Amino acid sequence: MKHQQANPSTSDKNHEGSQLSRRNFLKMGFGALGALALLEVGGASLLFMKPRSLEGEFGGLVTAGPVDSFPSGSVVEFPDGRFFLVRSSEGGFLAAYRRCTHLGCPVNWEAEQNRFFCPCHASSFDQHGDVENPPAPRALDTFPVQIKDEQVIVDTSRGQSRETFRQEQLVFA
Ligand code: FES
Repeated sequence: MKHQQANPSTSDKNHEGSQLSRRNFLKMGFGALGALALLEVGGASLLFMKPRSLEGEFGGLVTAGPVDSFPSGSVVEFPDGRFFLVRSSEGGFLAAYRRCTHLGCPVNWEAEQNRFFCPCHASSFDQHGDVENPPAPRALDTFPVQIKDEQVIVDTSRGQSRETFRQEQLVFA
């Protein structure tokens, strides 16, 4: 019986061919993965480099609304801007940073008690942000307020610390 023997040179060539194609395939695969990784890194870098607008949120200018939409004696919270817009009984505006001056917990406005209250260690502040009950050592910080075209605008990029409330901190239209 005659055994058919594979031609070693043909077999080697076939083997070489399959190895080559596997090598090429792997190369292409790694190339594609590399390109994808580059795209991802490049995309992330572009996103990172893109200037981020903070308008309307904490760290930027927040347009609170028209002057007339805030009645005298009102307190309105702006969670995205992290402040409370206070309109005093005299009609002046003040933006109080919601961060407690003790250890930085966010304070809440309690309308029925007419006070800001810190749930962490029970400090409380009056409507102007003055300390009523320690351990908070000083009044709530504020942000500059400006009135432009009858709109109340708060600059949350510049916190202002203060010991107590003073009348000249109020901004009038
Ligand atoms: S953090 Fe507000 S009372 Fe301590």
